[in-house]
Amino acid sequence: MTVVAEHPTIPKVPGSLPIVGHTLRMVRNPLKFASEAAALGPIARIYLGPKMAYMVSNHELLYEILVRQAKSFEKGRHFERARPLLGNGILLSSGSFHRRQRLIMNPAFTKDNIASYLDIMRSAADDIFTTWEDGQVVQMYHMFYELAVRIVIKSMFTTDMAEQDIAEVYRSMPTVISGFERRAAIPPALLDLFPTKSGKEFYAAVERLRVIGHRIVADYRARGELPKNDLMALLLNSAAEGDKLMTDKQIHDEFMTLLTAGSETAPSAMGWSCYLLGKYPEVQERIQAEVDEVFDGRPVTAKGLERLEYTRRVVKESLRLYPPVWAISRCTKENVTICGYDLAANTQVFYSIHSVQRDPGVYEDPDEFHPERWEGEKGKRLPRSAFVPFGAGSRNCIGENFAWTEIQAVLATLLQRWTINPVDNAPVPPVAMGALVPGPLPMTVTRRKK
Ligand code: HEM
Repeated sequence: MTVVAEHPTIPKVPGSLPIVGHTLRMVRNPLKFASEAAALGPIARIYLGPKMAYMVSNHELLYEILVRQAKSFEKGRHFERARPLLGNGILLSSGSFHRRQRLIMNPAFTKDNIASYLDIMRSAADDIFTTWEDGQVVQMYHMFYELAVRIVIKSMFTTDMAEQDIAEVYRSMPTVISGFERRAAIPPALLDLFPTKSGKEFYAAVERLRVIGHRIVADYRARGELPKNDLMALLLNSAAEGDKLMTDKQIHDEFMTLLTAGSETAPSAMGWSCYLLGKYPEVQERIQAEVDEVFDGRPVTAKGLERLEYTRRVVKESLRLYPPVWAISRCTKENVTICGYDLAANTQVFYSIHSVQRDPGVYEDPDEFHPERWEGEKGKRLPRSAFVPFGAGSRNCIGENFAWTEIQAVLATLLQRWTINPVDNAPVPPVAMGALVPGPLPMTVTRRKK
């Protein structure tokens, strides 16, 4: 199916108010708003205050934006909300500077390197799972959040980061993320004009994280020999080799970027997978059987993870239904035409990965959980650009393989020993925070008898 606009007019999402446009509706229920826009067609006009923007909900348009005509787009302005913490780190930097940072950091994400993080992932998971009692209720999302913070710190930065620093990151990050969200909806300059309690808490949390970041950079500098391919070592070595652009501030910004990007998203993916496993116990049993067959009670290995085909399909379907990064934005650098639609220069373009991945024109029963849709040839027939939880093109997720390994290693380690069940059958509505999260997600853990 090719989307070429027969009528180049782009429909407007109804319900825009004078002065504020759609802003209040977007803030109140962003997911519902994005679905309404998707119902109007591949692309719709929305209003952020008086300013017009676009909302894209179709994979072919998304491919144009992220890959084929990526040169005509830059990161959207909503990324600016993260500038106070992430500075000019790899998520926010652009052009040739971004390309060189990515080249410097790539070695930390090679297949071999990621496999070498596996022990850290497994033992961090075990440290938590072995403290559970049979029948205990666990707040799954919060637990995964803490675990992901630990995993990203201990694998990306081989530092003896003190426990209190890890706890501080875990405590401060949600305040910072919700601050980012407010700043996406209301211009930061306006927010800072009227200092509020939440504004002060946001800056205090940013400052606490910044202090930790600077301390870690200083600790590394004080070390003699640096570990090979550790992310911080790659950055510091580049500076040591005379790279004038790799200042301490830049290294700090990269550290914060990796910490934020790596600890916000994976817990959402693990949380949603567990939610679905609780809802579909037969799927959970099938994963347990696969994990038992591959590992037979032994610790997970990189080679073994490659054999978890069914588990991977389940995680993939969970990432389709609940993409942790559910919407992103770009800005047109010039007038550009995508699939027949003319977009004006200097206009914000939001795209909803959530809507793209639930497009009824692509997926049969788009709102249903069907891991089998990814089986063999059937899965290969689905257009690649209609499954983009990690983005696409030159700005795709550098941590994609890390995340796949982490999610599978943690789920396999969990399900080797435990069966998880929802505390009740109440639906779990997605909360569109920085990532699309399932809320606290209380689940009962039952020790498996084998
Ligand atoms: C399920 C987990 C994850 C999801 C769904 C996810 C999703 C994404 C997406 C959609 C982007 C593209 C943003 C854009 O196009 O503007 C992105 C970028 C990025 N992600 Fe991830 N991510 C995940 C895990 C991770 C992890 C574990 C790390 C690090 C350890 C990481 C680090 C990054 C970085 C640094 C970028 C910016 C890359 C660049 O601009 O060159 N992510 N991620």
